[in-house]
Amino acid sequence: MSARARPRLLDLAPDEEDFRAAVLAGLLARPKSIPCKFLYDEAGSRLFEAICDLPEYYPTRTETALLERNAGEMAARIGPGCELIELGSGASRKVRLLLDALDHPAAYLPVDIAREPLFAAAAAIAHDYPALAVTAICADYSQGLNLPPPSAGRRRVAFFPGSTIGNLKPAAARSFLAACARLLAGGGALIVGVDLKKAPAILHAAYNDAQGVTAAFNLNLLTRINRELDGDFDLDGFRHLAFYNEAAGRIEIYLESRREQLVHVAGVPVRCAAGERIHTEDSCKYGVAEFQALSIAAGFRPSAVWQDDAALFSIHYLEAP
Ligand code: AVI
Repeated sequence: MSARARPRLLDLAPDEEDFRAAVLAGLLARPKSIPCKFLYDEAGSRLFEAICDLPEYYPTRTETALLERNAGEMAARIGPGCELIELGSGASRKVRLLLDALDHPAAYLPVDIAREPLFAAAAAIAHDYPALAVTAICADYSQGLNLPPPSAGRRRVAFFPGSTIGNLKPAAARSFLAACARLLAGGGALIVGVDLKKAPAILHAAYNDAQGVTAAFNLNLLTRINRELDGDFDLDGFRHLAFYNEAAGRIEIYLESRREQLVHVAGVPVRCAAGERIHTEDSCKYGVAEFQALSIAAGFRPSAVWQDDAALFSIHYLEAP
């Protein structure tokens, strides 16, 4: 790789102590829960990429089609020479559609918690877009992101695809959006993918795929705990559980104990009753007006929204005054 094509790396990742403390606190609490960001170790990130290609998991292909169709209009709104931040960049696949449409983008800053996939994706982007200044930031962006202001005259735009915003509860999503509005203040914008409310059967299938990839993704959290925190979870003792809570407008995901069992994590005993659940993720769904109201409350001015004909998925363009 030439020096020019090498991305800059900024490692602000939380250390292992955070994982240990969060897992122990979550397993000793009632009800039990573990923050969903810990689903994404190397194997979890690979399994999530596999989920994105599943026939039942419509969000990725629907959002990709929306980007293919509308990236030109998004780029026209953004204008030339922007600095593009991507939150939760993963494999940096969808952003290429935006980068290809943008007028001479100056910089790309992918931000993700999963270090290795982030660095690999940033290197690939730096190679394929040699005029772009690429800085990979390994960080937990849900805790807020402190970045220096953009270079003079550069418009800062954040791209947050995939409906990852849905993995926060609405109050947390509002705080997160408010932090984004501060980061982008002074003429920046946020382009955010948001999964729409729809028939529960479609949602149920998307989180209970026939091949069991989502179940493997969920159960991988226990494998990670066994490996990194000297745990002794028996994976056969737990099952993946995902259902749509219609009143709350969200998919809820759990690991359910199949029997009464005693597990150890980092030397600490953890009792699980038969049928007891460990909450591992929420995936909130929004109507268009509902999400716009949330963005306005967070300080944004919604100025465009794109959605597919079947009303499965939406992409919002929010301006930060
Ligand atoms: C990353 N996030 C938007 C996915 C979702 O749909 O909430 C995570 C996921 N969990 C299970 N399948 C997909």
